[in-house]
Amino acid sequence: MIAPSLLSANFANLEKDIQMLNKSEADWIHLDVMDGVFVPNISFGLPIVSTVKKLTNKSLDVHLMIVKPENYFEAFVQAGADYISFHLEASTHVRRSIQLLKKLGVKAGIVLNPHTPVSLLEDVIDELDYVLLMSVNPGYGGQRFIEQTYSKIEKLKQLIKESYSNALIQVDGGVNTENAKALYKAGADVLVAGNAVFSAQNPVETIAQIRNAKRT
Ligand code: DX5
Ligand code: ZN
Repeated sequence: MIAPSLLSANFANLEKDIQMLNKSEADWIHLDVMDGVFVPNISFGLPIVSTVKKLTNKSLDVHLMIVKPENYFEAFVQAGADYISFHLEASTHVRRSIQLLKKLGVKAGIVLNPHTPVSLLEDVIDELDYVLLMSVNPGYGGQRFIEQTYSKIEKLKQLIKESYSNALIQVDGGVNTENAKALYKAGADVLVAGNAVFSAQNPVETIAQIRNAKRT
């Protein structure tokens, strides 16, 4: 699957970019919420999520790069999130947060920064709908893919298998038409792509190319 990230969209005409995504094979729309505290950058918040919700029937995948994420779960669900992921590094009571998301009726994901080992998920993997592995340091679009991500995907795949978990593996940062195939091969289920999609000559075709990169 592919979840194009709106971070690289044209905010002067967001409607046009959402219409492009509606026509495309995009599975989810990825929305990067940044608070300037957990990450050095500030992006957008609730009004953009609720605006996007009105313009699409695609599932909204909200990636919270904020401190105290659990305080905002309900507001993002009301704004239209279908999937919500929060950073392990920003959360103290992780299991409680996952349960809160489930109670609110959305899919629950945990995000790991590039330096955070997959083994820290051992005791919660059974509860998760998805795990998002950051393949860049979060905060900005258009960064270079960190190659170690491949072995992290493999370790996570193994953990999911051993735990009889149904969690999907999502990868975010520096994904493009060149590395999509290898990422699927390593075990990724959902690829997030911002810059690769929105800077492409033909974004609809690029979405299809990344999404359908052959698993061999
Ligand atoms: C980075 C964000 C990503 C970002 C990916 O902090 O979490 O979702 O939009 O952008 P690209 O695909 O440009 O690396
Ligand atoms: Zn993201």
